[in-house]
Order: sequence, then C-alpha cells, then structure tokens
Amino acid sequence: MKLYVTGGTGLVGSNVIRLARRRGFEVVASQFGPEPEWPVDYTLDALDLSDHEAIRRSILQHEPDAVIHAAAILDHRLMYDRRDMCWSMMVDGTRVMGEACREVGARMVFVSSDWVFDGRAGLVDECSPPNPVNFYGVMKVVAERDLLAMDGLDAAVARLAGIYGLNYAAQSLQRKDNGLGFDFSVYVMYRLAAGLPAAVWTGPKVNDEANPTLASDCADLLLRLAAHDGQGIFHCFGSEWIGRMELAYRIADVFDADRSLIYPMLTPEAVLDEALHIGIPYRTRAKTERTAAALGRRACNVDEGLAAFRQEWDAFWG
Ligand SMILES: NC(=O)c1ccc[n+]([C@@H]2O[C@H](COP(=O)([O-])OP(=O)(O)OC[C@H]3O[C@@H](n4cnc5c(N)ncnc54)[C@H](OP(=O)(O)O)[C@@H]3O)[C@@H](O)[C@H]2O)c1
Repeated sequence: MKLYVTGGTGLVGSNVIRLARRRGFEVVASQFGPEPEWPVDYTLDALDLSDHEAIRRSILQHEPDAVIHAAAILDHRLMYDRRDMCWSMMVDGTRVMGEACREVGARMVFVSSDWVFDGRAGLVDECSPPNPVNFYGVMKVVAERDLLAMDGLDAAVARLAGIYGLNYAAQSLQRKDNGLGFDFSVYVMYRLAAGLPAAVWTGPKVNDEANPTLASDCADLLLRLAAHDGQGIFHCFGSEWIGRMELAYRIADVFDADRSLIYPMLTPEAVLDEALHIGIPYRTRAKTERTAAALGRRACNVDEGLAAFRQEWDAFWG
C-alpha cells in the first residue's frame, strides 16, 4: 500500500509512519515545519495545508492508495487569534484533501477528536451527537461532516483522545505545552521519570476524564482503518476512561515513581484569565466497542497502554 500521511512530525503521525514502514508500506509524508531530526526512509513533500492548490498538486503527484490526515493546529490561543488561517487549514484544507483523494481514488482517513463532545453527556459513542465547546471542536465537526457528505469519496473519520507516547520524528518534540494542560500524560511522565513533583491541574478548566490513548496503539488502528472499507465515524481511543489524578498515579506506578510526587493544584489564575473564553470538555467518556468490532481489536486499556509505553520509553531512552 502507498500511504500518504500528513502531520508526520507530530506525535500521532510519527507513530503512524514508523508502524507503516515496519509493515512494508510505501510512505509519503507531507512536511510543514522543520525536517525530522533523524534520517528517514520515506518520501517527504513540503506542504502547508492552508495552500489548497498545493494539497491537490501533492496528492495528484503521489497518487496514494490511502491518506491518513493527522495534521492539525493544536494551539488553542493561536486558533482564537488567527481564526481565518486556522479554518483555512483545518476545515477548508481537509475538504480539499478529500476532493483530491476522490480524484485519485484514494481512501481518506481523517483524524478527529473526542473534543467534538462537550464532556457533559455521560458515555458517548460513535453515533452520539457532537456538541463542541470550543473552536477546535467546531472545526473538527465541520470537517468530519464535509468529508462524510462528499459523494464518491471513500472516507472514514478516526477520532482520537488524550494521546501520549514518543514522538519518533524529533527528540525536541517530545514534550509540548499549549498552556491548557493538553499534553497532560506526557508532562506527568517526564516529571516523574526525572524524580520531580508533578502538579495535576484541577478545577473547572480541565479535561477531568478521558480515554487516554497510546500513540503507537492508535497508529495500528489508523492503519487498520486505512485498509478497511468502512465509512463513517470510528472511535480509535484507548478502551477505558479514567480521571486525571488516577491516571497520574498509574503513571507513577508504571515508572516505579513515588506516588507522593503527585499533587492536585487548582489551574493557575493566569491560565484561567487568559483562557477564560476557551471551553474545555469536562468529562469525555467514550465507548469504543463498535469500532473494536469493525477493526478486529480493541485499543489498549489504561494499564495495557502504560505498560506498552514503558517498554517504548526504555527502548528509546536506553
Ligand atoms: N494529541 C492529542 O491528545 C489528540 C487528541 C485527540 C485528537 N488529536 C488529533 O490527532 C492529530 C495529531 O495530533 P498530534 O498530537 O500528533 O499533534 P502534533 O504533535 O501537534 O502534530 C501536528 C502536526 O500537524 C502539522 N501541521 C501543523 N500546521 C500545519 C500546516 N499548516 N500544514 C501542514 N501541516 C501542519 C505539524 O507540523 P510541524 O511539526 O512541522 O509544525 C505536525 O506535524 C490531530 O488531528 C489532532 O487534532 C490529538
């Protein structure tokens, strides 16, 4: 299979590429910012997803069998400051990517998010109505709908949630902080692994529960989806939801760290002030059974994912 991946320098995309190459897929990856820090064994093609002509050119040039479209802007402040640019990249760019896929007969897997939900609805599944509470979620929902409504396009939406793992494109990209506690698991892991205290933000401005998902695990689900013929929405999340404090404790256990290094802390006032207008889904608990049945396996639960991650961590950092 010839696979085209966007967002290949990202946490998700770098894991997709790594697994795809291990499985012998030919890979083309769009490249936006700096090149990966290590030599790569796949083709890179420079592409800004706000440049719609360039998207079409790139897809027509490479004629992939499938596209995994994982690129996104995840900086919420940037999203609110530069709405036009973000909409052009996240919504219009995704639609243009879908049109280009249709033109070359490629299957399109669009990576979306559990943040299409408001986190107030209890347990949600693939058919639950979305109700985004921030601009990011709105853009994801609109892009999902655009693609699934496109006549003649072979398309699947893969929603992800609470991703943690190793970024295999660049060591300098291992930890991200967008100021809203987005990269929560990764933050806790790096603190505890270094023997440092780890604050767990609490209060109204946090994603208090979610289905944490190991990036390499969801990469397998995304590759299954790329080779599948199912249309519609798939929940490629970890198969268990958990609260932030409990997740931090489980991370401590798997890293043989002292649980007392973990302490709850009200989200700092400065963050609350600055991000007051940005809605955060509170408790995103999602069911994954329908997706597991379609793709032939469920994703890791919390302990399975963390145990697998510990092995990846040890292999990577030595
Ligand atoms: N991380 C999570 O917890 C989470 C949860 C739910 C869903 N998701 C979804 O999963 C996908 C991957 O997320 P991630 O965590 O891997 O994000 P990430 O690490 O921030 O990677 C984002 C990728 O998008 C690329 N990108 C940004 N702007 C671009 C542009 N204008 N044109 C082309 N590429 C651009 C980035 O390139 P550069 O590196 O060159 O800037 C990077 O490769 C996204 O669609 C996200 O919405 C993530």
